[in-house]
Amino acid sequence: MQPSTGWQIRQSFGGEEREALDEFHRLTWGGHIVVAHDEAIDLRTLPALVAVDDGGRLAGALCWRVVDDSLEVVSIAAARSGVGVGTALLDAVVAEARAAGSHRIWLVTTNDNLRALRFYQRRGLRIVGVDRGAVDRARLMKPSIPTVGDDGVPIHDELRLELSIEGH
Ligand SMILES: CC(C)(COP(=O)(O)OP(=O)(O)OC[C@H]1O[C@@H](n2cnc3c(N)ncnc32)[C@H](O)[C@@H]1OP(=O)(O)O)[C@@H](O)C(=O)NCCC(=O)NCCS
Repeated sequence: MQPSTGWQIRQSFGGEEREALDEFHRLTWGGHIVVAHDEAIDLRTLPALVAVDDGGRLAGALCWRVVDDSLEVVSIAAARSGVGVGTALLDAVVAEARAAGSHRIWLVTTNDNLRALRFYQRRGLRIVGVDRGAVDRARLMKPSIPTVGDDGVPIHDELRLELSIEGH
């Protein structure tokens, strides 16, 4: 899928832009710490891909890390959904995974996030695991995690999704 015109994807260069990224994460996740699979992860320590619009504003961001033969997408978000930013960020991180020699990309999302589940599965990721109660445990570490999410669905569990990288 071709990304929309009006913004481009690139590596975040840090500096002032990193402050904009921190603000974006504050608005999206309530701060720079995300809790996933029983781990509190500081997004400021991770490499980031950013979507930047023609006015220099952040249109979206993806933070990732490589551990062993896998690339984990720790955070992905678009400032405005449905205009192609998420797809372009995902395409860009697939290129990062290939460059790193990773065998797979993986991530977790929460059981309420039906939009994300649709988004990922339509782009080839497969659900490979369910960690029942993972978000309930995460909430003990980060009490600001809501108890009810999109569409009024109670948030309890993490779903793990993976995309195999061809050639591995
Ligand atoms: C999940 C998320 C990252 C997806 O990103 P996105 O930018 O909305 O994704 P896209 O715009 O690329 O694709 C979403 C839909 O918009 C459509 N779309 C893409 N480009 C479009 C365009 N130029 N015009 C109209 N529609 C378009 C796509 O067809 C897609 O529909 P599909 O899933 O049925 O194929 C985004 O919704 C988001 O930020 N959610 C909040 C944070 C979040 O939950 N992150 C995931 C946590 S694990």
